[in-house]
Amino acid sequence: MKAIEIRNKYLNFFKKHNHKIIPSAPLIPENDPSVLFTTAGMQPLVPYLLGEKHPEGKRLADYQKCLRTVDIEEVGDNRHLTYFEMLGNWSLGDYFKEESIQMSFDFLTKELQIPVEKLSVTCFAGDKDCEKDEVSANVWKKVGIPEDHIYYYGKEDNWWIAGEEGPCGPDTEIFYDTGKPACSDNCQPSCDCGKYVEIWNNVFMEFFKEKDGTYRKLEQKNVDTGLGLERMAMLLQGKETPFDTELFKPVMDKLEELQKVDDIQSRRIVAEHLRSSMMIISDGGRPSNIDRGYVLRRLIRRMIRHLNKLQIDLSELTNLIKLDIETLKEMYKELEQNQETIISVILEEKEKFVKTLITGEREFEKEVTKLKKENKKQIEGKIVFKLYDTYGFPPEVTKELAEENGMTIDKKEFDELFKKHQEKSRQGSEQKFKGGLADQNEKTISYHTATHLLHQALRQVLGEHVKQCGSNITEERLRFDFTHPQKMTKEELQKVEDLVNEQIKRDLKVTCEEMSYEDAKKSGAIGLFTDKYGDRVKVYTIGDFSKEICGGPHVTHTGDMGTFKIKKEESSSSGVRRIKAVLIK
Ligand code: ALA
Repeated sequence: MKAIEIRNKYLNFFKKHNHKIIPSAPLIPENDPSVLFTTAGMQPLVPYLLGEKHPEGKRLADYQKCLRTVDIEEVGDNRHLTYFEMLGNWSLGDYFKEESIQMSFDFLTKELQIPVEKLSVTCFAGDKDCEKDEVSANVWKKVGIPEDHIYYYGKEDNWWIAGEEGPCGPDTEIFYDTGKPACSDNCQPSCDCGKYVEIWNNVFMEFFKEKDGTYRKLEQKNVDTGLGLERMAMLLQGKETPFDTELFKPVMDKLEELQKVDDIQSRRIVAEHLRSSMMIISDGGRPSNIDRGYVLRRLIRRMIRHLNKLQIDLSELTNLIKLDIETLKEMYKELEQNQETIISVILEEKEKFVKTLITGEREFEKEVTKLKKENKKQIEGKIVFKLYDTYGFPPEVTKELAEENGMTIDKKEFDELFKKHQEKSRQGSEQKFKGGLADQNEKTISYHTATHLLHQALRQVLGEHVKQCGSNITEERLRFDFTHPQKMTKEELQKVEDLVNEQIKRDLKVTCEEMSYEDAKKSGAIGLFTDKYGDRVKVYTIGDFSKEICGGPHVTHTGDMGTFKIKKEESSSSGVRRIKAVLIK
């Protein structure tokens, strides 16, 4: 079964079970600077897991574009991916364990026709924070999983949370037996020998983990599930790796045809990083030296290096991109829509990298010769950092070069130097890697409302061509990207600032209504990326001044927000301006 068929079957199945199908949120979270990329289907839903009402109701399902970078160095083996698609269904205080497990079981055994004996499941073993999950185990038995296919594990295996704090809970995980021989008498789902592959995780999110490490019960009992699409496609197609499925096959074959040096790992790295880079770019990411941009830069540069390793001419890149878009456009129409941008961003980054690649490699050779003379086997972190800082070598590239010379790198020292370097460039948004939307506080909420006021003020002062292209909020400031062809004048900036401050002074009431997307458009509400919304949306109205489609949250009155001040207006990219502004209390 092809991946797209699995996706469609999944969404149809949950639709039949009264779930509303919501669109995938972008890979790059909006208004959530706390995470770099969307890493799970639940992430855009955090406010609703915590109790806020979702406009589409209590039963939701979707496919979600996800990117996880922890495994970046592992890509090239037979299973790790950075970009992947997660199919998920949610109960926001609606059904719980019994119905959730029954639906998962039915989907796997009836819709996908997986034989029951191929399935094993794991449940939470219980500890001081939460009891043993016998309820789930009993449901599994009832639906037909034999007792000896049910395992209990502790928090390390059967508890799920995104990061350090936030909504979480015990989970029950479903494993598929590939039929490979057991690695030992004690081979079981927790073993990573490859016999058992996890296919689906059902999290019973009824807890919230606080910063101090304690757990409290949430107001509602939620279900959050995640099924990895690429993995499922691989298993159902009886393939050994996701690279053998139709998602990667055309590019893998093309690389094999073009290569002058045979290297399967390099082919996988190129195919994987190409797809991830395209997905990031099509959702608005651009290469840079920090945060999201840095991840994209590493992906593109590592891909280039492996194309070089395969001795494939870099002029083939455009064709490879086009081929990959052709392969994936049925699943992601945004790739086709953004084809030109994807090509130009990747080619531009390639140009930047190849300029320094040769001199960097020469520098690397020099270091290696020196170390070899001294009989040393490890490249110091400061050299790895220099190669990064001066020649743009991502650390994983240097690591691979080192390995090719029988050496290692001091990654710890590099990480320390890199951290210092990033801290300098990041300008006080330390909270970036912590928390999630759960972190919304008075300050970020005020900035959220200020963003709506700014958006409307820009439209009044500059014209209706102003459209939001991006927004990013921290506790310290807001950043807003919008379409406008030229630099704003001092007078225009002053007018916008005054207009926003006037609305704050008027202490306008902020109200929220739920309506269909069509009605929202008809009501004149402004909104952004159209196909991001579901059928029902929330519209926030600020007095008589602004009306905008948005998930919230917002302040209830504008009066207490403070004084709005524009700190900077600059170019963001061609035809796009960027404003940074603060609220001073
Ligand atoms: N959020 C859960 C996961 O990512 C379903 O595994």
